[in-house]
Amino acid sequence: MRIVTAAALLVGFFVVGPAHATDDPDAGHMIVQENCARCHAIEATGDSPNTDAPPMRTFASKWPLENLEEALAEGIVVGHEGIEMPEFVFEPDQISDILAYLGSIGEN
Ligand code: HEC
Repeated sequence: MRIVTAAALLVGFFVVGPAHATDDPDAGHMIVQENCARCHAIEATGDSPNTDAPPMRTFASKWPLENLEEALAEGIVVGHEGIEMPEFVFEPDQISDILAYLGSIGEN
C-alpha cells in the first residue's frame, strides 16, 4: 500500500490536475477495468486478451504521462485506427485517477 501511495504522489506531481482531481489509483483501476480490460492487460502482470493491445503497465515508460493525459482528454483514437471501439473521452478527475493507476503499475 505504501508503494502504491508513493507512485500516486509521483504521478500527481507531474500532472497538473484541477483542484478536484482525486489521483486515486483504485478509482483508476475501476475505470480501466470497465473500459479497457477486454483488450489490454491492466494489471502489473499478465498478457493482454487482445494480443495486439500493449499491456497498460508499459504505457508509463513509453509515453510521457502528460501526452497520455491529453490523449485521454481528447478521446483516444491514436493507436486504435481500424479497430472497432468507442472513442473514449474522460473527465479530468477520471484522467488523474487513470494516470495514478498507470503510475502504480508502470515499469519505469
Ligand atoms: C477493442 C479493444 C481495445 C479497447 C477496449 C481499448 N484498447 Fe487501447 N489499444 C488496442 C489495440 C489493439 C492497440 C494497439 C494498436 C496498434 O498498435 O496499432 C491499443 C493501443 C493503445 C494505446 C497505445 C499504446 C502504445 O504503447 O502505443 C493506448 C495509450 C491505449 N490503447 C489506451 C487505451 C485505454 C486507456 C483504453 C480504455 C479507456 C483502451 N485503450 C481500450 C485495443 C483496445
